[in-house]
Amino acid sequence: MNQFNPSFGELPYCILGREQVIENIKLAFENNLNDPYRTVLFSGARGIGKTVLLEKIVEISLEYGFVSVNITAGNTMIKDLFDQLFERTQHLLYEQKKIKSVSIKNFNVEFFGDDQTLGLRTRLERVLVKLNELGVGLLITIDEIYKAAHGLGEIVIAYQHYKREGRNVALMLAGLPKNVSDILSDSEETKNYTFLRRAERVVLKDIDIEEVAQLYYETFNAEKKSLTKENADFMAEITKGYPFMVQLVGYYVWRKTGDKVEKAEMLAGIEEAKERLGVLVFSASLNDISGKDTEFLLAMANFETPVATADIMKAMGVSQGYIQQYRIRLLETELIYSPTYGKLDFSIPYFKEFLLQKQ
Ligand SMILES: Nc1ncnc2c1ncn2[C@@H]1O[C@H](COP(=O)(O)OP(=O)(O)OP(=O)(O)O)[C@@H](O)[C@H]1O
Ligand SMILES: [Mg+2]
Repeated sequence: MNQFNPSFGELPYCILGREQVIENIKLAFENNLNDPYRTVLFSGARGIGKTVLLEKIVEISLEYGFVSVNITAGNTMIKDLFDQLFERTQHLLYEQKKIKSVSIKNFNVEFFGDDQTLGLRTRLERVLVKLNELGVGLLITIDEIYKAAHGLGEIVIAYQHYKREGRNVALMLAGLPKNVSDILSDSEETKNYTFLRRAERVVLKDIDIEEVAQLYYETFNAEKKSLTKENADFMAEITKGYPFMVQLVGYYVWRKTGDKVEKAEMLAGIEEAKERLGVLVFSASLNDISGKDTEFLLAMANFETPVATADIMKAMGVSQGYIQQYRIRLLETELIYSPTYGKLDFSIPYFKEFLLQKQ
């Protein structure tokens, strides 16, 4: 069976390059309520593996006796949180024979004394107290966070309060870099998030190429698809360590090849991987932005990157005000970033090549 899975948010067979952070989180679950890795803020580009890592952490938390809820920031966060919480605690009903168990449906009311008219903080605290009494911790993960997410501030404030009271809780948040830095900025709108400035921050990066090469070499050969070291290295270089591309290249080379990975078939697989990256990530991104934004990106692609904003301005023959406006907008899309002052670069490998092909 194909050991690679190029789907967003789905656990791959093997998670590379995250050992250190996973180790730190395990220690935090195991040891001590005040361990900094109980509260972590992950950030990183699209497709770098934020969702997958949160899922992995949820899986791990089970081994350490946590109940977990994993929600995505949005308008129904609070409802989602309680829905999941009550669903995932139902097994406690069977373990705690004391409960009269009118019906599973009213489990939360009877067991936790839930009352929907109460505020989030009190409502969640009732659950938490009960869980902690049973020696169970609570992990909340929130994906795709952004400043204006309705209910996010309330959850953070409640969490801060539980921490202060020494409850067994953990909170892991993930988002695109821009959204995370917005949350951490100092303003009236972000005052509920102040506590997060003290949270552990983890910026997810591309994976080491050698690790990718080793994964290819071992995974293919283990499934009797003979792959040379040289070809494994070649495939790994192509991915540039970008996690989504690691899955794409692995998946399509696997599909195109038989018992032995021949060079020509491998190259065909790589081509298909690049094409899929274009469709799934780049075309989709271009659909979300205006024609003018695309023109800016095309102008950028014609330079060696990182490129100075001033050069793009000259190439496009437009005013400084105009360029600044588009620069800011595009930085917000996270398709480009500014590695140093006055310079711009593309965030995801092969985007530049994709744009040049479109011209
Ligand atoms: N550490 C990793 N090792 C190998 N593959 C990974 C790793 N992390 C993620 N992937 C793969 O990369 C792809 C994207 O992962 P994921 O959906 O978690 O990205 P994301 O950062 O949440 O992206 P987005 O910002 O678009 O939500 C998936 O196919 C996943 O299997
Ligand atoms: Mg994601």
